[in-house]
Amino acid sequence: MSSQFLAPALQEGDEEVEQTLRPRRLADFVGQERAKEQLAIALEAAKARGEALDHVLLVGPPGLGKTTLAGIVREELGVGLRTVAGPALERKGDMAAILTGLDARDVLFIDEIHRVNRAIEEILYPALEDFRLDIVVGQGAGARTLTLDLPPFTLVGATTRTGLLTTPLRDRFGMTFRLGYYEHAELTTIVSRSARILEVETDGEAADEIASRARGTPRVANRILRRVRDVAQVRHDGAVTLEIAREALELLEVDEAGLERTDRELLSAIAHKFEGGPVGLSTLAVSLGEEPDTIEDVYEPYLLQLGFLQRTPRGRVITALGREHIGAAGSADGLF
Ligand SMILES: Nc1ncnc2c1ncn2[C@@H]1O[C@H](COP(=O)(O)OP(=O)(O)OP(=O)(O)O)[C@@H](O)[C@H]1O
Ligand SMILES: [Mg+2]
Repeated sequence: MSSQFLAPALQEGDEEVEQTLRPRRLADFVGQERAKEQLAIALEAAKARGEALDHVLLVGPPGLGKTTLAGIVREELGVGLRTVAGPALERKGDMAAILTGLDARDVLFIDEIHRVNRAIEEILYPALEDFRLDIVVGQGAGARTLTLDLPPFTLVGATTRTGLLTTPLRDRFGMTFRLGYYEHAELTTIVSRSARILEVETDGEAADEIASRARGTPRVANRILRRVRDVAQVRHDGAVTLEIAREALELLEVDEAGLERTDRELLSAIAHKFEGGPVGLSTLAVSLGEEPDTIEDVYEPYLLQLGFLQRTPRGRVITALGREHIGAAGSADGLF
């Protein structure tokens, strides 16, 4: 992937910068007010009782703060954190080793929890419900189940869509928070905060402009800020003004709605190649040379939110608004 690619999926090289920009305490986490309020109460109650916090499920498109919130939960509880990626858990033994290695009240963060396999999921059920680990030893007629007690712990699971989880797993979470796209003012606050941390002088209008092109996503806002900072440094005197922000955004091919080239190509494919749709996800993916999952998790949610695209039982359909947008964008950047 090129470094100019802005879409909200995590990319190589992101981790380090994201670490420095990631809020550590609940008070520094901008927006998502309802989730924050509920979480604050649950945290305070669990701490007062000296118990592990109930299991938490975080749901939402990439870059909206799921990993950040998992870190905040552990920071606020003052406990240990163990992070694993769902697809990396292959054997039951891996999961058993992780669970038995936890200390009381620790946070276990499983990212992409919808991608853990069936065998792992079955180990999780009793672990989550009764802090119990059932291990089968031996084979055939001689097989026995050993039961181990686990320390009470908190599972924080992250997923892009709840529909991807099985019902028994979903039911074991005491709290589910759905993260939505951020408001413009919240993104402006995030950009200003990041600019301070990165020590880039950024004027208010520039922060505003970056926020309005960030497709409601903090990760994208931070990513644009970094690219704008590059342009300010290489072509100007380092300070970020509105003009410089616009210059950088043009270079990045991010349009007024915050759409990138791939978003416009997606809309344009539906409009032109597939006569407006409906077109199936896999057909669309092949025509764009992208993975269906990437289209569904990274590109579509924001296009749906803008009302540029619709999902119907027969496939994806472009809306009148969507057509209007590529019509205007197409004539502006000569893409179509
Ligand atoms: N509410 C927020 N306030 C300030 N910054 C935020 C907020 N949410 C996210 N960020 C910033 O955006 C970056 C991306 O957030 P995060 O990694 O938590 O997203 P995610 O939901 O885990 O994404 P993914 O689904 O790709 O794993 C963070 O490093 C942080 O800098
Ligand atoms: Mg994450």
